[in-house]
Amino acid sequence: MSSPDFPVANLLAWFRANARDLPWRLTTDPYAIWVSEIMLQQTQVKTVIPYWERWMRELPTIQSLAEAPEQKLLKLWEGLGYYTRVRNLQKGAQQIIERHKGKFPTAHDDILALSGIGRYTAGAIGSIAFNQPVPLLDGNVIRVFTRFYGISENAKEKETTNRLWSIAEELVKKAAKEPVTPIPLSSRGEERAGERRPNSSNPPKAIEKPNQPAFLYDKEAELRHCSLFNQSLMELGATICTPAQPACLLCPLQKNCIANRDARQSELPNVGERTVATQRKFFAYVIQLENQVLVRQRPTGVVNASLWEFPNLEVELKTKDPLNAARQAWSKSFTSAEPFCVIKHSITRYRITLEAFRAEVKTKAPLPAELGEWYPLEKLHDLPFTSAHGKIRKQLRN
Ligand code: ADE
Repeated sequence: MSSPDFPVANLLAWFRANARDLPWRLTTDPYAIWVSEIMLQQTQVKTVIPYWERWMRELPTIQSLAEAPEQKLLKLWEGLGYYTRVRNLQKGAQQIIERHKGKFPTAHDDILALSGIGRYTAGAIGSIAFNQPVPLLDGNVIRVFTRFYGISENAKEKETTNRLWSIAEELVKKAAKEPVTPIPLSSRGEERAGERRPNSSNPPKAIEKPNQPAFLYDKEAELRHCSLFNQSLMELGATICTPAQPACLLCPLQKNCIANRDARQSELPNVGERTVATQRKFFAYVIQLENQVLVRQRPTGVVNASLWEFPNLEVELKTKDPLNAARQAWSKSFTSAEPFCVIKHSITRYRITLEAFRAEVKTKAPLPAELGEWYPLEKLHDLPFTSAHGKIRKQLRN
């Protein structure tokens, strides 16, 4: 059976009319786009927006990122999780200074050679910042393609992945050749009330048009088709071709879509067996003496390295006695542990329950180093905390 024809022009037209107004779409600066793409991995758009805006204010250039102290970077990333991303961003910035005199490289292989940049991110930067006909594939795009073409093989298998990348490549090249639609003069009007304007200290290279975001056009006011096409695929996956209850009636690909024709949306994509989640339980202790609390910094080489946390222990799921657990693990000087709050969070395949307790210790007793150091309560917010322990800290303020 032959493949359906992918209506590239329909998708581009849909995106021009429906693209969300996201702050990184007001610029074509490859550095700003790189930062947004790294933040958007594993994190939702609405969470990323304030982080990206603050980052661009604090570290507006590759040079400023390359030179930033680690604690500043961690503080700017605090709450986003997966901290390897931010360490690699800095390494990448340092590589750009060393290898490319501080100017973001345009060659695909040079972009791909930077720390933390894989095939997806290189495709995103190449297409969105430089309008190059390079493909990208993320979870959203995989969902759009497997449904549209009715691909039922496991999308995680090498052969299927290769096929999906080939489709992405073929289509972005096709998009590059789409005839450029001139902008009707009638749409060049006054700015609408309340419309977002770019920050004047960081003007976008693109020209803003009323009713449509600036990134649609380059300096000559021509459509940036490679950028638009790749973003429209991701946008469609995020807003229309969603995992559950996709809005097929609103979809610009609906007419030719195999999953829609055969009502197979809920079966696709096929991602094989899900890895089973593992439950884990931790006890954390908020130990306060007057206006000081005990906190510790995680060592290098472990997950969330260099971030701060309250002293804590992993315990068996059935363990119920926090006072006894602390006395056994650390010191007999613990005298009480009262329930404070319970935080649930997930990281990779782990479902973690973090039970926090307000604990007391005998004041005079020397404490083991694993309990950390005394830190003034009012300065706790200056430290970059792990996401889960940051939620305990937040409760302390209430
Ligand atoms: N997800 C990650 N990057 C994106 C982008 N540039 N547009 C839409 N969705 C995205």
